[in-house]
Amino acid sequence: MSVRSYFMAKYYDASMKKMERACLSRWRSELLSDISGDVLEIGSGTGANLPYYPQSIHRLVLSEPESHMRDLLRQHINQTPGGKCTAESSSADKLSFPDNSFDSVVSTLVLCSVDSPDTALHEIKRVLKPGGKLYFIEHVLAKDAPHLIKWQRLVQPLWRYMCGNCHTARDTERHISDAGFTFETLEKLHASGAPSLVSPTIKGVAKR
Ligand SMILES: C[S@@+](CC[C@H](N)C(=O)[O-])C[C@H]1O[C@@H](n2cnc3c(N)ncnc32)[C@H](O)[C@@H]1O
Repeated sequence: MSVRSYFMAKYYDASMKKMERACLSRWRSELLSDISGDVLEIGSGTGANLPYYPQSIHRLVLSEPESHMRDLLRQHINQTPGGKCTAESSSADKLSFPDNSFDSVVSTLVLCSVDSPDTALHEIKRVLKPGGKLYFIEHVLAKDAPHLIKWQRLVQPLWRYMCGNCHTARDTERHISDAGFTFETLEKLHASGAPSLVSPTIKGVAKR
């Protein structure tokens, strides 16, 4: 395991604190307030969404392929009452679950980091039951600010190297739509507290 992934896990929560306070905590809470049934979260990181899941959900599987992140995730799960939650190591491009096994899939700040968003979304669709829903918060290509796009593209190789394969110029809205999902809600937001390159954000729910 690389030194970079060790440090990314160790300092992830601290590095996100300003943005969590400014907007992300509220967005997580709004997104997950009415989620239900059997829920899979991909790329759970250290478990930042854990406090926002309603008690009423039936089952929660948190999947995180990176081992240092997963160690911290397990610690946070152990501190969370309820006992409905398990940690898994699946990568989003090869989910180890049968077809049609979840009512909801959650992805927050993950589709920027997978190698192929199309493959990940195909897998998400496969494990969702018919009519199941993808809940997402993702930073995206600055389609409403063309001057920023050139910087997002220019900086992307270095940003990917420094920040765990995170792509600054990904058109995730288009990838979700191309995968055959229908948007139930789609908000276009700007994350205060984040560097401007990763500030343009989409938040919403898309139906399989
Ligand atoms: C920016 S962090 C987001 C963590 C968390 N979802 C959150 O909202 O704070 C990106 C996460 O995606 C994970 N990740 C990267 N590639 C992945 C993949 N192919 N499948 C699933 N997760 C992946 C990383 O290990 C990391 O935990």
